Amino acid sequence: MSSSGDELPDDETAPRSSNGLDEILIFGSPETRRRFLKQVAGTSAVIAVGPRLGLFAQKISETAGGSAPASAAKLPLRLKINGKDVAVEVDTRITLLDLLREDLHLTGSKKGCDHGQCGACTVLVDGRRINSCLSLAIVHDGEEVTTIEGLAKGEQLHPVQAAFVEHDGFQCGYCTPGQICSAVACIKEGHVKSDDEIREWMSGNLCRCGAYPNIVDAIKGAAGKGT
Ligand code: FES
Ligand code: FES
Repeated sequence: MSSSGDELPDDETAPRSSNGLDEILIFGSPETRRRFLKQVAGTSAVIAVGPRLGLFAQKISETAGGSAPASAAKLPLRLKINGKDVAVEVDTRITLLDLLREDLHLTGSKKGCDHGQCGACTVLVDGRRINSCLSLAIVHDGEEVTTIEGLAKGEQLHPVQAAFVEHDGFQCGYCTPGQICSAVACIKEGHVKSDDEIREWMSGNLCRCGAYPNIVDAIKGAAGKGT
């Protein structure tokens, strides 16, 4: 039911601020909004709160796909990527995956779901595996990133890469860079005591080709060689 006058609207018809932010997102409920407005109306508090809410709303609107700001914030970022120092200026909204693939042309890390669900984008940051599609590049200032391109030493494959080849641990290969990065960390973490444990600790990396049995064999093989 729509509203008029002093009535607050139902959730479906809740007002949107000029920058597209649903006010319910800020206030939680119509009652909270009403109380809040009464408290600040006609006081200097509105001067202090207004700009902050405006900024907050702008950020949420941008995140939700609203119009882009006139100029995106850029900040300097220093990383060590595959052993090389990299200094770039980045849009503060860019993900680590997009920075690697689009700006630095390290396309080994794959974009599968872009939602943290498939693991195709797995890279190692300071030795820890992360989904790079879910992580803003700027938060990794000063950290060390290893992608699939950084595992081999020249022509010599990393032992986990070699094990994937030996055990036929891939078919189309799309998930493979993420599987291998994840497997390197899985072995280092010591989560390789049984097939079940490997499956559990590799469960963030999906393989649409269903190469799972061979992936487990490859990880066991690499771990058995003291990788
Ligand atoms: Fe990052 Fe799927 S692309 S988890
Ligand atoms: Fe094709 Fe895993 S080898 S998705």
